Amino acid sequence: MKLIDLTGSVLRRPAPPKPAIVHADPDGVVVGHAIADDRPIDLPMPVTGQLQNRHTFVSGASGFGKTGLLLLWLLGMIARMARLPLAQRPAIIIWDPKGDLDELDSGIAAISDMLPFVSAIDPLQTAVPMNFCRLEVGILSPRLLTATLVDLVNAISSAGNGVALGNQQIIAIGAVIEAVLHAPGSSLHWAAQAFQPDGTAVLAGRTTSDTAREALLGLHLTPELSASCRIRLLQAFGGLGSEAWEASIGAPNCLSFRDMLLPGRITRFCLGNSPGALEAPVKVACMATFKLVLAAIQQRVTPFTGTPAVLVLDECAVVAPVIANSLEKTLSLTRSRGAGLVLATQSITQLSAVSPGLLSAVLTNCAYKVAGRVGVPSEAMLFAKEIADSGAAGSARDEMAQSLLKLKPREFVSFGQPGAPVRFVTDTLPKAAWLAAAEKHADAIAAARSRHIVPAGHWPTRLFDAAPRPQSDNTNPPTAGRRSHWG
Ligand SMILES: Nc1ncnc2c1ncn2[C@@H]1O[C@H](COP(=O)(O)OP(=O)(O)OP(=O)(O)O)[C@@H](O)[C@H]1O
Ligand SMILES: [Mg+2]
Repeated sequence: MKLIDLTGSVLRRPAPPKPAIVHADPDGVVVGHAIADDRPIDLPMPVTGQLQNRHTFVSGASGFGKTGLLLLWLLGMIARMARLPLAQRPAIIIWDPKGDLDELDSGIAAISDMLPFVSAIDPLQTAVPMNFCRLEVGILSPRLLTATLVDLVNAISSAGNGVALGNQQIIAIGAVIEAVLHAPGSSLHWAAQAFQPDGTAVLAGRTTSDTAREALLGLHLTPELSASCRIRLLQAFGGLGSEAWEASIGAPNCLSFRDMLLPGRITRFCLGNSPGALEAPVKVACMATFKLVLAAIQQRVTPFTGTPAVLVLDECAVVAPVIANSLEKTLSLTRSRGAGLVLATQSITQLSAVSPGLLSAVLTNCAYKVAGRVGVPSEAMLFAKEIADSGAAGSARDEMAQSLLKLKPREFVSFGQPGAPVRFVTDTLPKAAWLAAAEKHADAIAAARSRHIVPAGHWPTRLFDAAPRPQSDNTNPPTAGRRSHWG
């Protein structure tokens, strides 16, 4: 790999042929300009009309402009979408664990009339109804939803305690979740509560699934096993100190993941308003929503010819535990099912720390890589080792590592397009125009941020509770059917 663009050592070497990356991609979005010659640099749409998906990886130390780059790229995509007929627009789902992409809403208002398609939702603050028992997760069967949810409990447990579920816990939690999914008006609170004394018997009386009932009654629960299952379920689905989250996962009507994947929908999970950013509830909400979106996408037929989906994860290390074991599968599955991933992270060691193969899998499967400033030499060397051609000389890797350590704010190196990597600086965000649009479209932005709030008083039904919830008006299992919150 030639590094001439990165190191400025052009004078010492013959100049390479100028790579033809400028607007090489008809679906590209210009995000910046090359430092060497001011050429516009574009990043490809993660999905195209031909469904040739291109996962992209963005890295860079804190404060060096990753989120700024994502804003430019997303707004470019949205401006492009706005010119297409609705049926041809991709769906965009964004995970914004720190709330850094809040300006996206005003940016959208400034460039298009797409705000009615935007949902900016914070499951922890606004109690977006996400009762997993009632979610329309694509065409996921209850059996597969059970497996997905058990997997999620496992990932959250592993991330929180560093310990994966044991076999007995998997069997017990699986039986309880499957029974809960087949109990009228249920919420996942029932799952944790089923592990109190006589809980499984009570649940067996409520579930409508014979298989789940048999599995429940066949469990041999010691007090220790019950206690550990209960704690893990509380960790995953409640008991995290957020009443909004609790109301959310027990709400009778819920957000439909199928709706999120409809053409032109822009959904942003903005979780940065909680105190103590990236604390447990934020991670859990990110992991849960990401896992369920992936589950919905994996249900698509392949090769998929419907609405493509762009999935953007700022701070992707937050959800790494749920994808660590199946990342390659996830990345190839999403490719064949019409979804393109954009993964951004502050530090590549955050990924390699989750599991040894995770970083290689991400870098191998992401056709495009955009690298910003790397904080420490060891990380720069790791990055250069992973990203350089296998035949690259050690000195070329050293050069690459050195150049990554010296990048200034908003400077990135783009790998993956034809030709040599190119160092570029992101264009300046038009913040004044966004501020003006935020004022002008304040009502539409407020609507985008309140589209999915759980109605007051819709507390989850608690199968095992003697005392009613405060303000509760639904102590009986709710009977409301599924309702789309997209109107
Ligand atoms: N293209 C840009 N134009 C103008 N300002 C920018 C641009 N990109 C980033 N900034 C500003 O620089 C600051 C840091 O950038 P940004 O939030 O994008 O960093 P980051 O790499 O995402 O950091 P972190 O990892 O902590 O989230 C922010 O105040 C942001 O508004
Ligand atoms: Mg950021």
